Amino acid sequence: MGLKQTLLNQVRKPNGKLGRVIATGMNKGHAKLAKWGLSNFLIEPNYVILDIGCGGGGNIKCFAEIIKDGKVYGIDYSETAIYISTKINKKHIENGIVEIYQGSVSSLPFKDNYFNLISGFEAYYFWPDLIRDLKEIYRVLKPNGYLILVNEGYICNNEKKRKKAEKWSKLGNFPIHTPDEYREFLNKAGFSNIQIFEEHKKGWITAIGMKKV
Ligand SMILES: C[S@@+](CC[C@H](N)C(=O)[O-])C[C@H]1O[C@@H](n2cnc3c(N)ncnc32)[C@H](O)[C@@H]1O
Repeated sequence: MGLKQTLLNQVRKPNGKLGRVIATGMNKGHAKLAKWGLSNFLIEPNYVILDIGCGGGGNIKCFAEIIKDGKVYGIDYSETAIYISTKINKKHIENGIVEIYQGSVSSLPFKDNYFNLISGFEAYYFWPDLIRDLKEIYRVLKPNGYLILVNEGYICNNEKKRKKAEKWSKLGNFPIHTPDEYREFLNKAGFSNIQIFEEHKKGWITAIGMKKV
């Protein structure tokens, strides 16, 4: 297997020693993207938040440092990702602010109507059945709760960035979408008040949908 394929497999599901390095590296590598993505959204101090595909847990840590009376949960199907996320959030876990679970987006171990905010940073590409998985997210969101997807690979107008994203999506065999397709799949899963933000120079996208009941 080539180096690129090995890296793509690790990004899809960090595993073992290399997976620990990759998960830790993603915290640094995705920090600016996540910061920009969240600048499009106001997080209330009492929010109960779930980060899906939490990887190295960097975004869980950011959320935990923003909220005051809320709580942050993380979930990832990779044992290695859970190990790193737990390690870097040790203090917040001990303080009862953070809980991290191994599990899949397709079957979230949470009751209905539980979260104010659910996030996926560089994560949705790998979800096995996008509409079904988005409906599962919808189930655990509170009425008036939000889903935020923040991604660096999408079909954008910036030709250079688009070509790069298309190359990786082909190599890694995962889908990427246009902004209109984001609207379409979020709408199909039941979300409303959909907002799309684009950072054209970088080729970044943030999609926000609301559970309006
Ligand atoms: C590209 S990484 C992004 C990690 C982190 N969100 C970040 O921005 O650095 C994608 C993560 O999603 C996780 N993942 C992929 N498919 C998943 C699924 N079906 N259920 C839960 N987690 C999944 C992977 O294990 C990996 O940690």
